[in-house]
Amino acid sequence: MNLYSTIFAGAKQALDTAAGYVEKAISLKGREHKVAFPDTAYSLSLIYAITGKKIGTLGELEGALDLVRSLIVEKEQLREAENAGMAAAVSSEIIEALKYVVDEKPYEAPCMGFLTDAIIRGWGVGLVMDDIPGQAVIIGEFPDPESAAKVIKEYQAKGLLTFLVGKVIDQAIEGGVKVGLEFRVMPLGYNMTSVIHVVTVTIRAALIFGALTPGDWEEFKRYTYKRLKAFVNAVGPLSNYKVAAGAAAINLGFPVVTDQDVAEVPMKLITQKDYDKMAATSLEIRGIKIKITEIPIPVAFAAAFEGERIRKDAMFVEFGGSKTESWELVTQREASEIEDHKIVIIGDDIDTVQQVPGRMPLAVLVEVAGKSMHSDFEPVLERRIHYFMNYIEGIMHVGQRDATWIRISKDAYEKGFRLRHFGEVLYAKMLDEFGAVVDKCQVTIITDPDKVKEVKTQQVVPKYAARDERIASLTDESVDTFYTCILCQSFAPSHVCIVTPERLGLCGAVSWLDSKATFELDPTGPCQPINKGPVDDPVKGIWQEVNKTVERHSQGALSQITLYSLLEDPMTSCGCFECIAGIMPEANGIVIVNREFSGVSPVGMTFGELASMTGGGVQTPGFMGHGRQFISSKKFISAEGGPGRIVWMPKELKEFVADKLNATAKEMYGIDNFVDMICDETIASESEAVLEYLSEKGHPALTMDPLM
Ligand code: SF4
Ligand code: NI
Ligand code: NI
Repeated sequence: MNLYSTIFAGAKQALDTAAGYVEKAISLKGREHKVAFPDTAYSLSLIYAITGKKIGTLGELEGALDLVRSLIVEKEQLREAENAGMAAAVSSEIIEALKYVVDEKPYEAPCMGFLTDAIIRGWGVGLVMDDIPGQAVIIGEFPDPESAAKVIKEYQAKGLLTFLVGKVIDQAIEGGVKVGLEFRVMPLGYNMTSVIHVVTVTIRAALIFGALTPGDWEEFKRYTYKRLKAFVNAVGPLSNYKVAAGAAAINLGFPVVTDQDVAEVPMKLITQKDYDKMAATSLEIRGIKIKITEIPIPVAFAAAFEGERIRKDAMFVEFGGSKTESWELVTQREASEIEDHKIVIIGDDIDTVQQVPGRMPLAVLVEVAGKSMHSDFEPVLERRIHYFMNYIEGIMHVGQRDATWIRISKDAYEKGFRLRHFGEVLYAKMLDEFGAVVDKCQVTIITDPDKVKEVKTQQVVPKYAARDERIASLTDESVDTFYTCILCQSFAPSHVCIVTPERLGLCGAVSWLDSKATFELDPTGPCQPINKGPVDDPVKGIWQEVNKTVERHSQGALSQITLYSLLEDPMTSCGCFECIAGIMPEANGIVIVNREFSGVSPVGMTFGELASMTGGGVQTPGFMGHGRQFISSKKFISAEGGPGRIVWMPKELKEFVADKLNATAKEMYGIDNFVDMICDETIASESEAVLEYLSEKGHPALTMDPLM
């Protein structure tokens, strides 16, 4: 059989299987029975993207089989071959959806099966902040676990997302690869058809961030090719299905590298039998470049270790976590005051720990000097400590400032990790990422209890206080300049965030000071200044200069935005928002849902469903994505009356904003303890019960001007 006939055979086999499954499911459950993947607003997203139709029932799924049939035209041409590949992909989506019809939980750990919208949105900022340089899909079986582990660990060390399908899953685990979301290695399933779960990740990324129109399949292919740096490694014997799936990958713009003999297609289908070179070949043909920093430490260092948790029984020593003193500070010095690459340890190192797990106080003091360094950059650099420490294999870092909590694993200790290695990492990364402003860097690690306390009272506390004062004194009126952030345009091409002192970027990761620093560190980068000029409407938040900038940076897609209104020209959302605000008309107010909340809000929608109406860089009056910090600002929907309109929030979010929001409400409305008047899921989520609670509490929204 040649390549073409293999693809057609694979597509027809997939179609037959899918048709058989559909027939069986219908005879069991009936045509009206619901079909859906869990926690997604995009139905069977591949079919949705190709046809523009959402599949809701088994009967409709039967119709989708016609789509598959129409895609199989046995003509030995590249176009027909790629279409047949898509037929296999659509069949797989049908087969996998049916697994969720007959079984509530068709996948067991370590396999993950379908990946929810929340997971994709969570990757959102990372996907664009070149934290995640690409996506590797490995399908099949290596000759041995060692080869599997070698290739996967290489992707992991470079920060890629790696998806595993087939026997490679067990090989990875046997080869000692840490798998799971937090390690960026996602075992999908043992059946070949579970590869569809990564295909729909790319399709939903296009829907979520790119706001593409379902049904416009050519656009989807352009988007997945241009915006998603994905590729496939097909290892082990090639079945007909695997070859067909490869054709589908190529159709989506994802090159395939295999260890088998095939008729190569330049830049699309390549043979690489040497597993030492498989990762490098794959990155090269997908055009993925990785910034490398060699840091002299005895454990691995990669963004992939960011989410690693160290449990009690795996830990060697811990610092802080409110049990001991633990703080960190980045501070600016004169060049003559510090010595470059000097690492000072004051107090005992961790090998003095008597009883494992041990506990010690810790201070991390990073002193930097540079001609272009500015004290406003200090907190920006300091916040990166969290990431730099977390990227170390076997280290967990939580919190910031004087509320940090750090654990070192037994494993890392045994490999030789000591305190000075924190210094090596911080030194290397500060210079690597902030070379534009940092010329010299010195790191001091203190464990001596008295010294930790002494430096804290003398230097650290006053510094934090001065910073807080500076931030609190910043209002939108008190500055001349706002900033754009267009980082997310690599996914949402028309999205522009406007970052002001009182309204941070909707992802929550870019404050006004951050955007200012980003511009100064990288003058042609994603954050550009807007000389805001006179305000046209201070209540709605309208500036002509802002509008002009938005129009220019959205390539004309958008020409009017307000910064403080939910109903009139609200700012667009890309998809990585921390929260979504939406109106609840009957309460004359709004509800806010944060990403972490998985329940249904009083407007009858989950975060995911709300998000599907909000994202993609389009304006949707009545809905808006925003950062958590914005909620307690006096500017928050000031056009609609301000934060006094908030009638419902998940409890966790309420607690997060309570202090600041109470202070704002006191100042704006003279209300004490406003947060108590806001309903949450532990009180009520049904419209009527929410209303009852609001009137019981005398919530101010009930007596405000009608919202609509
Ligand atoms: Fe994306 Fe806006 Fe955050 Fe920038 S500020 S990273 S554009 S969400
Ligand atoms: Ni870590
Ligand atoms: Ni974004």
